[in-house]
Amino acid sequence: MTLRMQETTLNFKDLHEKIAHIIHQSFFGKISSKAITQTILKVSDLYVKDDKGSHWKSKEFQTAYLSHFLPMNILRLIQVLERIKKYDFLNKLHWYELGSGVGALDMALQQSEFEPTQITLSDSSSEAKQLYHKLFGQNHEYAIQNFKNAPQVLSARTLFVFCFSLTECATIPDWIYKKDHVLIVEPALKSKSKRLIKMRQKFIDSGFEVLAPCTHNQKCPMEGGREDWCHDTTSGTPWAELCDYYSYLPFKTHRLGFSYLLVSRGHKNLFTNQIRVIGDPLKEKGKSKIMICQDSEREFAARLKKDGPLGEFSRGELIAELQTTEKKSNEWRLKPFTSSARTQP
Ligand SMILES: C[S@@+](CC[C@H](N)C(=O)[O-])C[C@H]1O[C@@H](n2cnc3c(N)ncnc32)[C@H](O)[C@@H]1O
Repeated sequence: MTLRMQETTLNFKDLHEKIAHIIHQSFFGKISSKAITQTILKVSDLYVKDDKGSHWKSKEFQTAYLSHFLPMNILRLIQVLERIKKYDFLNKLHWYELGSGVGALDMALQQSEFEPTQITLSDSSSEAKQLYHKLFGQNHEYAIQNFKNAPQVLSARTLFVFCFSLTECATIPDWIYKKDHVLIVEPALKSKSKRLIKMRQKFIDSGFEVLAPCTHNQKCPMEGGREDWCHDTTSGTPWAELCDYYSYLPFKTHRLGFSYLLVSRGHKNLFTNQIRVIGDPLKEKGKSKIMICQDSEREFAARLKKDGPLGEFSRGELIAELQTTEKKSNEWRLKPFTSSARTQP
């Protein structure tokens, strides 16, 4: 099966075959699709309700992770890498991942335009490392280590990457605020995304510049006790095609959520003067609107019904300029609809 996503082509066929083979070996061929689906749901519940994290020693957990969470995380990470691809300097760095599991980042990197100078994976679980080797061979160095302690690598030349691994940590290790370049990807859960917003401020207070998804270094407009939070989603992913168990699962979504944050000391934000779309279109009486972010204010771009449809806006994308008439409260009123009511960066 080949998946076209933006400009990359991802061949999942090999991965699917290897996953099926590992599951077959683990259970001596005796596991039904129904049993796998139940395990996926059990692990999913665990991730939503519990911070205790991955249970790599359990064959059931391995099965659920390989058949469901791994392909989902690969798709999310492909989207993250797409969002940050403008930052060329990342190619000059050693990417050091903490909490790599079975290598979702490695697979996503292979589909991206990035070519880091070096890639190191790491995890506290030797079972995860063994599964990574079964799936990808000895592709990259894989260290067994607990990320409570900082890896001994040169900070200025290293991008420290956490993909869905800080989520398993009740306390964020303080050493990350002393490094130079950090990329964090978290699930789109409210509690995790809100925690990421707090970390964002701590990075700024520690002398970092925020490079993405934010277009500015000011206070986050979503900070505080608000009900909504900033997160992104994959776009147009035929997720149902990738997951053999999709038809059995109660959650039916074609878009996968995630939150992310790229920060650096010494590198400047390339998206200043642009606007990030941070919500889905909302319909209200007499108008449609979308949440946008360009500074510390929580704002919307809205078009009155009499002025036509809202137009094409998708969560996570950048816009160079909005054609507006006035600002009412926290709403920018968009001019009557024409196909050029906004410009792409
Ligand atoms: C949800 S999995 C994510 C795996 C992978 N990054 C992905 O995107 O699919 C989280 C991983 O973090 C690892 N982990 C959690 N806490 C850790 C710690 N303190 N030190 C090292 N690894 C840790 C777990 O063993 C697990 O493999």
